[in-house]
Amino acid sequence: MEREIYTPKLENVPPMPELRTLYRKLGEEKLRELVDVFYDLIAKSEILGMFPGDFDSAKQDQADFLIQVLGGPSYYTDRKGPARMRMRHFQFVITEESRLVWLGCYRQALDMVKIPDEERQILDDYLDSFSKWMVNAKSDSEQ
Ligand code: HEM
Repeated sequence: MEREIYTPKLENVPPMPELRTLYRKLGEEKLRELVDVFYDLIAKSEILGMFPGDFDSAKQDQADFLIQVLGGPSYYTDRKGPARMRMRHFQFVITEESRLVWLGCYRQALDMVKIPDEERQILDDYLDSFSKWMVNAKSDSEQ
């Protein structure tokens, strides 16, 4: 049977015009490095089981998307079509707990690749607020 998709009640995400300056400030190489480190941390995390396994293509998808969101070339939509991120995540059961593990891996990766404070804060705000839209299942404690 199809599972019921849960939609969290969220505040609207405010526009973040400074997000689209990050590609220019950080460059493509740094962003691909960030995503490589992030996935290496996911591989050691308790949510590894959610990831189907081909990390090379997962890294490419993730980096292409991030680069596009941060004002770089439209690599992701050119290759895969409309982003529709929430819909693309329906196949995975994402609770608030798993979101926090996911975000923790990104935060650790941001530390490891040494993104300067100002850019780091902008990226952190984006990842924290946007990832809330990916939650599609109630917390373990709310079942
Ligand atoms: C800022 C929030 C997020 C962004 C921008 C994002 C981005 C992406 C992108 C671009 C893909 C590739 C989709 C495709 O083309 O098929 C993807 C896949 C995936 N995401 Fe997310 N994601 C976010 C949050 C999350 C969260 C919170 C989780 C789980 C806790 C998650 C789990 C996954 C999984 C399991 C995949 C499949 C990876 C694979 O193919 O191995 N994502 N995500």
